[in-house]
Amino acid sequence: MTCRRGALIVLEGVDRAGKTTQCLKLVQALQQSGREAEMMRFPDRTTVIGELISSYLMKKSNLEDHTVHLLFSANRWEMVPLMKQKLEQGINLVVDRYAFSGVAFTSAKPGFSLEWCRNPDVGLPKPDLVMFLQVNPGVAEKRGEFGTERYETSFFQSTVHQRFEELMEDKSVNWRVIDAARSIEEVHNDIKLLSENIIHFSENQPIGMLWS
Ligand code: TMP
Repeated sequence: MTCRRGALIVLEGVDRAGKTTQCLKLVQALQQSGREAEMMRFPDRTTVIGELISSYLMKKSNLEDHTVHLLFSANRWEMVPLMKQKLEQGINLVVDRYAFSGVAFTSAKPGFSLEWCRNPDVGLPKPDLVMFLQVNPGVAEKRGEFGTERYETSFFQSTVHQRFEELMEDKSVNWRVIDAARSIEEVHNDIKLLSENIIHFSENQPIGMLWS
């Protein structure tokens, strides 16, 4: 590697935890401090696969549960060449949801084990840091717009939250829990500090493979 690579930083959490707001603020703060940084989000609704997912989420179409799980995973894999290219160019990637949402949401459905859900994402670029924005699902629900898309019910979200808790027991992933019930600025300051540290730490490390 000729230049220092960028870090792969992921924000996870239940719906309305503030992930998108915090991703945008982090990218802006990193850029202002002279680092290269870009945001990505999953699902990426702009691709052909992403359009199928988007239509499913907006309840305009129905897809079989295993099928939609594999589409979410395929939507990540189709971005891998671009992600690797950017990381190798030294660009820090700030990602709004990743494979952990994939596993937490599908395994919240009856009959899906964590193990089955994890398999299609084994080998994806491994995040250097995953920050879980922790808010009680009841607080998230009060933040507005909750309930417009598929999965946005408080019962489903609390099951998703439990699945995230199980995923966070996996010490092969660099999880950090952030108390996201605080003000936007307080949450941002924690996220920025953790991100700056991991960018420094990861720059000379190879990109890892998730769950393998
Ligand atoms: P968002 O675009 O507002 O983040 O919402 C995407 C929805 O899709 C959200 O309810 C979480 C869900 N989801 C999955 O079920 N599987 C996945 O792999 C991902 C990335 C998201």
